[in-house]
This record gives sequence, structure tokens and C-alpha cells, in this order.
Amino acid sequence: MKPEYVLGNWKSNKSRDEAQRWISEFQKAYRANQVVLEVIICPAYHHLELFIAAGLPVALGVQDISQFPSGAYTGEISAEMVAGQVKYALLGHSERRKNLGETDEIVAMKVTRALDKGIIPIVCVSDIRQVEALKKLAPNFATTGLLLYEPLFAVNSGNPDTPESANEFALAAGEILQGVRVLYGGSVKPDNVSGYFQQPDLAGVGVGGASLDALTFIRLIDGASFKSQ
Ligand code: PGA
Repeated sequence: MKPEYVLGNWKSNKSRDEAQRWISEFQKAYRANQVVLEVIICPAYHHLELFIAAGLPVALGVQDISQFPSGAYTGEISAEMVAGQVKYALLGHSERRKNLGETDEIVAMKVTRALDKGIIPIVCVSDIRQVEALKKLAPNFATTGLLLYEPLFAVNSGNPDTPESANEFALAAGEILQGVRVLYGGSVKPDNVSGYFQQPDLAGVGVGGASLDALTFIRLIDGASFKSQ
């Protein structure tokens, strides 16, 4: 059975102490009882070691990787540098596209870097045009990659897209990138998460704000009721 996903994206949040506190709270309270569910946490790079040391039953991801290989690229974190530490890389988030000028071409370069190093790319898209660009610029993406559909109006706004509309997007994306699995993200909370898991063509959710508090995030995971059960 294919897994479904709950992905927590911490974005640019948490000191080392705050990250350690979250990990301790999660460790105490979380009971992984959904064998078909993969919980993915994407903290900042410098928190990865804390997660690895704690051995939490979650998969790890980074929130970005460089489009360049290792070398003279000051400040960049390359795929080589995190390979072996993380299973996933979140790429092309709308906040990076908007604030840092990431283009479809740059996102495609990052996808290739990730795949070359055995890291599964999770590409964020907010419209179908970005899915078409991904198909054209990174044709090898669809074999292993996941899509995270995050409409701009829904991200960090408290105004989520409806599960039905998100499902329609997943269907349309799946026609372009044959069989790609699609997650929905944008203001997903413990009290609305189950609606997305009831949709036949969605493979899970991406969560920003509601992943920052360990107990809220656990409630959200528990609130996901699975169509496979
Ligand atoms: P949000 O963020 O849950 O805070 O809306 C979603 C995301 O950007 O992944």
C-alpha cells in the first residue's frame, strides 16, 4: 500500500532550544499508529542533528537545496551535504519563488540535484502552469517526486482551499505528470485535515503554522482519517 503523508514545514522558525523542546514534547506524546502514514518534518538545516540524535519515528526533509553542486557557493547547502541525513527536499516553495526570485528553471535544477543524490524532491506548485514547466524542465521528476499543491491565497492565511478543489488540482496535475502523487498545503489545521484525507486523489497534506507546536501537530496527525482504512 502506498503511504500517505503529513509534512511539517517549520520555515524560518525556532532557536536550538525551541527545536529541542519541540522534539522532547513530540517524543513523549506521539504514538505512531498509522502504518500507511509517513510523517515528514522539514526543520532548518542546523536542527537536523537534533532530530537524528533523538531518533524520532519521522522522516526528515530540508526546506531547500542549492541548484549548485558542492564548491565555491558561499552560504549554499548542496544536495551532497545533506544526502544520507534526509530523505526529502522541499523545493520551489511559493515563499522562495516570491521572496528570492526562484524561477521554474532554478527549481528544475534543484530537482535534478536532489534526484542525483537519492533525495526525493517534493515540489511546491501553486498553479498548473508550474506543473507544466516542471514536466518540461525536469522530465525525470515524476518517477519519484511528490507535488505539494499550495494555492497562494491559502498559504499562511487561515483561508484554506476546499478539499474538493484541491482534489481537482491533483487530478489535473496527475494528467500532466502521469501518476504523480499530490499533497495539499495551505492553512491545514487539526480541525480541517480530515477533509483532505477523504479525497480520492490527494496523498496527504503539507503543514506550516500548525506544525510549530508539537501537541497541535500530533492532534493534526491524529485527525487525519484515512480512506485506506
Ligand atoms: P501554512 O503553510 O500551513 O502556515 O498555511 C503551509 C506551507 O507553506 O507549507
